[in-house]
Amino acid sequence: MSHIAYVNGRYLPQKQANVHIEDRGYQFADGVYEVTCIWNGLPVDYAGHLKRLKRSLAELRIAAPMTDGAWTVILKEIIRRNHLSRGTVYMQVNRGVAPRLHTFPGNNVRPSVVVTAKHGAGPPESVAEAGVKVVTVPDQRWGRCDIKSVGLLANALAKQTAAEAKAFEALLHKADGTVTEAAASNAWLVTRDQVLVTHPVGNSILAGVTRGTVIKIARDAGYKVEERPFTLEETQRAKEVFLTGTTTFVMPVVQIDERVVANGSPGTVTRDLRARYRAFMDALTSDVWNV
Ligand code: PDD
Repeated sequence: MSHIAYVNGRYLPQKQANVHIEDRGYQFADGVYEVTCIWNGLPVDYAGHLKRLKRSLAELRIAAPMTDGAWTVILKEIIRRNHLSRGTVYMQVNRGVAPRLHTFPGNNVRPSVVVTAKHGAGPPESVAEAGVKVVTVPDQRWGRCDIKSVGLLANALAKQTAAEAKAFEALLHKADGTVTEAAASNAWLVTRDQVLVTHPVGNSILAGVTRGTVIKIARDAGYKVEERPFTLEETQRAKEVFLTGTTTFVMPVVQIDERVVANGSPGTVTRDLRARYRAFMDALTSDVWNV
């Protein structure tokens, strides 16, 4: 099936879509992005993704390229033109096209906007049922991981390290052993006394939209959630470890490097949260478009 992309006001077959060689996204990674899951034709946590996109843009002092209503029109059109039932939509906004100079171009330069679609949402059910292996990788990213910047080199290198070790994800950690998050998902553990722990939001992690929803789902279900840093050492004593993200949903971790987590199979809390998150997605209605 041919993919249709939105590029600066036009819908084009992806093969014919291209960006300028002096696009600042290309030359400086001077832009931001969002990935939103499409589930039964509807965006998951659309309001949260749009809010974070606007925050990321504001942090980089890139003008919002359009209104929420215009984003909605484009996303609906991309979903329709790509016959997207379950998949992901990628939105990128960067500072635009200008002769290469590190400083910002003038206000006459308009941000570049690209939206693409991909079929297939979340990992196969069999992967989640078995649980996944992760590898530990030093967190070499910059100091503003809260901005969903397209500057993903450290994340890509970490994910490649994971792939070469036949692992699903890379668990990123600071020199003192603090686990920040994973290369493209947030990291959690469940303590022996059934408390869910995940790194607090701030400059050293991305405030995952899925993370936020899972915190709410967990608290509504009666679980205790603590947003505090935890270490690699603490994961060794944890009852369960799991990941959350747009392309991950709730994913049990059963092995960290060569060490098995708990008894090596997905734990009951993680499985329960995964089921609850799935129920949340299944219950989406077209009201999600009203942001
Ligand atoms: N990544 N942390 C990082 C570093 C991420 O890149 C992502 C998502 C997350 C999870 O955030 P959310 O729940 O909002 O998807 C956490 C996307 C999926 C990506 O880069 O493809």
